[in-house]
Amino acid sequence: MRRILLLGGASEIGLAIVAECLRDGAADVVLAGRASSPHRADAELAVRRAGARGVEWIDFDAAEPASHPQVIAQVFTRPVDIVIVAFGLLGDAGTWRDHAEAVRVAQTNYTGALSVGVLLGQAMRAQGHGQVVALSSVAGERVRRSNPVYGSSKAGMDGFYLQLGVLLEGSGVRVLVVRPGAVRGRMTAGRRVPLSTTPERVARATVAAMRRGRRMIRVPALFGPIMGVYRHLPASVAKRLAF
Ligand SMILES: NC(=O)c1ccc[n+]([C@@H]2O[C@H](COP(=O)([O-])OP(=O)(O)OC[C@H]3O[C@@H](n4cnc5c(N)ncnc54)[C@H](OP(=O)(O)O)[C@@H]3O)[C@@H](O)[C@H]2O)c1
Repeated sequence: MRRILLLGGASEIGLAIVAECLRDGAADVVLAGRASSPHRADAELAVRRAGARGVEWIDFDAAEPASHPQVIAQVFTRPVDIVIVAFGLLGDAGTWRDHAEAVRVAQTNYTGALSVGVLLGQAMRAQGHGQVVALSSVAGERVRRSNPVYGSSKAGMDGFYLQLGVLLEGSGVRVLVVRPGAVRGRMTAGRRVPLSTTPERVARATVAAMRRGRRMIRVPALFGPIMGVYRHLPASVAKRLAF
């Protein structure tokens, strides 16, 4: 029986990816999220409805890296076929002025993702197979003034997971970095963002990319040419843009 681990156990995008994976056949699913998550019951129900055989919730706080070795060891007492790193905090345009909030976003999105990534790399290499999916963002490709704390944290985690994939070549473990644009859901509630997509579309693109052995995708794919231009805009032009 396949096993799937979702770190950020109530993430809407993460749950959509789990559901898409379950279309390929049953699996046991481990949801790892905060003990305080108000979305836990809904997440467990969604995964059951999507066809999971067994569903287990384990307490996991991305901002507490000292606890991560024990969490990962607990899950890897049996092999894990797919791990989705989906936790994250968006912050907002004012986060750069708020020391405590900026550090919390960075510790979750970057230090937390790096911490589990290091442990997953070792655990999955030891078992000799598996797929890691890391949810990054196009916001990390060129950090924008509208949310530099979030963007820089995603740039850091994205770079780490791309290289983790390179370092694990030949081990049987693959790493896919997924860079969505804005995705309609809780994280972006109340914001209207052009080219926004849905968790289900991100999930379909992710599973298709896993099958093809891709290392990085953007969703929607149109962000490929857009970022190709935006990344190279002179700073004097980029700073005049509204986002
Ligand atoms: N939504 C977008 O527009 C978008 C676009 C690009 C990339 N992404 C990235 O995609 C990933 C998933 O986003 P989403 O849309 O699925 O957001 P979401 O539904 O808000 O899910 C994020 C999850 O992260 C969890 N989380 C936050 N801090 C945590 C911590 N310290 N420890 C453990 N879990 C923690 C939250 O837990 P609680 O349930 O306890 O709140 C929540 O379940 C994130 O990494 C996000 O940055 C999202």
